[in-house]
Amino acid sequence: MSKNFDVVVIGGGPGGYIAAIRAAQLGFSTACIDEWKNEKGGPAPGGTCTNVGCIPSKALLQSSEHYEHAGHAFAEHGIEVKGLGLNLGRMLGRKDTVVKQNNDGILYLFKKNKVTFFHGRGSFVKADANGCEIKVAGAAEENITARHIVIATGSNPRALPGVAFDEKLILSNTGALAIEAVPKKLGVIGAGVIGLEMGSVWRRLGAEVTVLEALPAFLGAVDEQIAKEAQKLFAKQGLAVDLGVKIGAVTPGKKDVTVEYVDNKGNAQKAVFDKLIVSIGRVPNTIGLNAEGVGLKLDERGFIAVDGDCKTNLPNVWAIGDVVRGPMLAHKAEEEGVAVAERIAGQHGHVNFNTIPWVIYTSPEIAWVGKTEQQLKADGVAYKAGTFPFLANGRARALGDTSGMVKFLADAKTDEVLGVHIVGPMASELISEAVVAMEFRASSEDIARICHAHPSLSEATKEAALAVDKRSLNF
Ligand code: FAD
Ligand code: NAI
Repeated sequence: MSKNFDVVVIGGGPGGYIAAIRAAQLGFSTACIDEWKNEKGGPAPGGTCTNVGCIPSKALLQSSEHYEHAGHAFAEHGIEVKGLGLNLGRMLGRKDTVVKQNNDGILYLFKKNKVTFFHGRGSFVKADANGCEIKVAGAAEENITARHIVIATGSNPRALPGVAFDEKLILSNTGALAIEAVPKKLGVIGAGVIGLEMGSVWRRLGAEVTVLEALPAFLGAVDEQIAKEAQKLFAKQGLAVDLGVKIGAVTPGKKDVTVEYVDNKGNAQKAVFDKLIVSIGRVPNTIGLNAEGVGLKLDERGFIAVDGDCKTNLPNVWAIGDVVRGPMLAHKAEEEGVAVAERIAGQHGHVNFNTIPWVIYTSPEIAWVGKTEQQLKADGVAYKAGTFPFLANGRARALGDTSGMVKFLADAKTDEVLGVHIVGPMASELISEAVVAMEFRASSEDIARICHAHPSLSEATKEAALAVDKRSLNF
């Protein structure tokens, strides 16, 4: 007889494993199926985020930033470093250890919460109003049944047409996180989040990095003022970004890869790189689910079609995370996972898409929540803006990192905070205050009147809020 569960989650990334834990907390018998394998063929739950995304990229960003600081920033603090060297193997090994700690942590959490874990691929056998049957193909094959299914199968890197990833010369995020020797010349196609983060890692470690971007504007989704500031700062670091290019032939050789493109002046260019990262977005992953076999509806771009509550067209089948519409972010996937588990329990799970923060973990970091100035203009919303530079913040001076600013956008009439944008040190941490403010529909004056610790970077947030009313105290 097949095993029966209240809830089966397909995919153990941040969306899936969190959905499974929340469902178990709510008293449901729950299983999670995930097929990711570690190098020994064992289970490695955590999905893209844990294995080849958020976690390993942040580990390498941290290590490479330490290396850059030791080489370039310590001297200013009176710390003299002689014989600085790079042990890339050890750096990559540390990253792998951090990943494994996270894989193991998730397996521990499954045990703690009594979630049954299946290592293998899940695919639909049957899905109707009487329940669902899922085939699990792992070391062994078995069928399990459930009343509710949550699909959290994530996304895969998008390849350039006709240019397959070989992960040796032409790298997706997977290869970009595991280059065994620092390339002399590294090409990156796509100046989005991955291109900038991975470009930063390898530039800090010594590569000459060229980023080729199709769009004429740098970081089009970011507030323009913040994007311009970031572009200036990256250029100073030596991260060259060519905007408005049209990529032509990409030809891998024995040891290098040639990229032909037309630059923004219309001139044909040819560049030869030791490695090429292609980071031009990601596509939803429904491979092997047997979606068509059970009539699961996809939209025109291949995402699983869901309503505002993450319900698919099939009864009691839900879908969350990268495989559905909305930003491809781990915390968005997690929030949807919790909300769906709560909806299954008859509760009112809710995800506020207006207050999902974005962070780009470059140096300086870029973080934002809510509307950009260009969006407010386009929507015809009357707003007030206030900015404060880290140059005028005591803690930033003490840190030795005074680049960037905090920017507040507030409703001209009600003063409600509509967006907060930061480029600067620890922007990833600072943005949380803005998220809380927006979640509670605070005004900029609310933030301006709250006592912030001195000296702290968060004082820049308070000062930017004060600047909305043109009453900054320290600038
Ligand atoms: P995934 O994490 O992709 O997990 C899906 C899981 O399902 C995988 O383990 C997969 O093997 C499994 N699976 C798929 N099909 C099946 C099947 N049929 N049966 C069984 N298992 C299956 N986001 C952030 O918020 N912050 C960051 O800093 C960040 N950094 C990133 C850096 C990089 C380099 C990349 C590539 C992404 C990054 N992201 C980041 C995005 C983030 O990784 C994704 O948004 C997130 O992983 C989506 O979670 P998910 O659960 O929807 O899917
Ligand atoms: P992206 O969407 O961030 O950026 C892709 C870039 O490639 C865009 O600027 C686009 O204009 C450009 N592009 C597309 N086609 C092109 C072409 N043919 N030639 C040149 N440029 C082209 O996608 P990316 O960087 O691949 O990352 C995928 C997703 O992963 C992100 O959107 C984000 O959701 C997630 N992610 C999140 C991170 C974070 O939260 N810190 C870090 C890394 C990834």
